[in-house]
Amino acid sequence: MGRFVLEGGIPLRGTVRISGAKNAVLPILAASLLAGDKCTIKGMPELDDVRTICLVLDALGAQLEKNDSTRVTVHSGALVSCEPPYELVRKMRASFLVMGPLLARMGKAKVSLPGGCAIGTRPVDLHLKGFEALGAKISTGHGTVQAEAKRLKGGRIYLDFPSVGATENIMMAATLAQGETLIENAAEEPEVVDLANFLNAMGARIKGAGTKIVKITGVKDLHGTTYTVIPDRIEAGTYMIAAAITRGDLLLQNVIIEHLKPLIAKLQEMGVKVKDEEEGLRVRMGRRPRAVDVKTLPYPGFPTDMQPQIMALLSLARGTSIIIETVFENRFMHVAELKRMGANIRIEGRSAVVEGVPRLTAAPVRATDLRAGAALILGGLATEGITEVNGIEHVDRGYVALEKKLAAAGARIKRVGTAEGPII
Ligand code: EPZ
Repeated sequence: MGRFVLEGGIPLRGTVRISGAKNAVLPILAASLLAGDKCTIKGMPELDDVRTICLVLDALGAQLEKNDSTRVTVHSGALVSCEPPYELVRKMRASFLVMGPLLARMGKAKVSLPGGCAIGTRPVDLHLKGFEALGAKISTGHGTVQAEAKRLKGGRIYLDFPSVGATENIMMAATLAQGETLIENAAEEPEVVDLANFLNAMGARIKGAGTKIVKITGVKDLHGTTYTVIPDRIEAGTYMIAAAITRGDLLLQNVIIEHLKPLIAKLQEMGVKVKDEEEGLRVRMGRRPRAVDVKTLPYPGFPTDMQPQIMALLSLARGTSIIIETVFENRFMHVAELKRMGANIRIEGRSAVVEGVPRLTAAPVRATDLRAGAALILGGLATEGITEVNGIEHVDRGYVALEKKLAAAGARIKRVGTAEGPII
């Protein structure tokens, strides 16, 4: 169980290169199961979650060749199983994304129901509703769910909630279904668009990804391709807030500005200077941030994955902010830990009332989930003295070489305990 030990109060200055998007590469690697031949994925982030999904593919019989740390070739020509190992699905709920590709490719998929996690129960009912609409027979029992269909047929699905995972799983399954599928009230996240672009590069026929209505016309089979994933907008947003909370000046390279619009708008309201420059996105802050209200929403609204991080920044703002979390039912686990550092936050149902304080105080704290860990590191970067953030195995799931990137921008941070391993 590792921890970060950091000495804060130092304005960050320098350049940070953003890695590939975790939430794009996970569904894209799952989708590589759909091709009968080789797919090469480039720009991959070196993350624990990527290691886990590669182990899942390997267990299903795919051949993986690691070309270098950010490139892997997957050959799914001879799959041997349609049931990913429980201990891997338990470890990472995104493993559930192999269900759609297995159902489409093998006619059957048996996956253990992903457990809940710190931020919520994380049900998969919308995924299963979509598979049923494509003609699959669903059965559950002993903690697993099985989907079976000789040949999937195109259907029409209305998602009660624009679930990212359900949109992705159904889209993948529909690529090989007979006829046309319509997903209505679909998720519009950039990672959904990246997956659709990857599938179309494999010969799929998907239109409307990134809008509320996605149309998939089934094809007989999909071929291999080479594809580079988009940069990680949540990693980028986290470093934007690192610049703001330390009153520093960071240049972020390898970002897609369009994907960051909701966050940029909010940070500018707080008085943060954000400028699109030749070499990248420049983020500067010279004063105490203004308090603002934040409401998380599905894309293109303010991303829930940036809620803990902006809460850390608002804890130090001049004034009172209201944060409303509409996407997950329990995504305030970081509040108790921020309060240990002196933040003044009151939770009322799905809202958090944040009274800004002039400074936080250093304290040992514990990450409960990926983005909560990021928020605590941001709090520590802004605070004089030594802050210890425990439970960094959560952070390693979503941030490539965090301490190295921060140290290169002047942060005093070191990792004690677990070190990151190779991808596969
Ligand atoms: C994806 O999770 C991301 N993970 C999450 O990022 C992100 O927070 C989330 O989308 C929302 O943007 C990956 O892409 C691997 P959802 P996902 O299905 O697909 C409810 C991070 O920090 N729901 O859009 O699981 C669900 O309970 C992670 O990088 C159902 O009710 O999210 C939740 O309240 C955390 N039934 C809401 O929808 C379903 O069948 C959003 O979930 C599916 C979801």
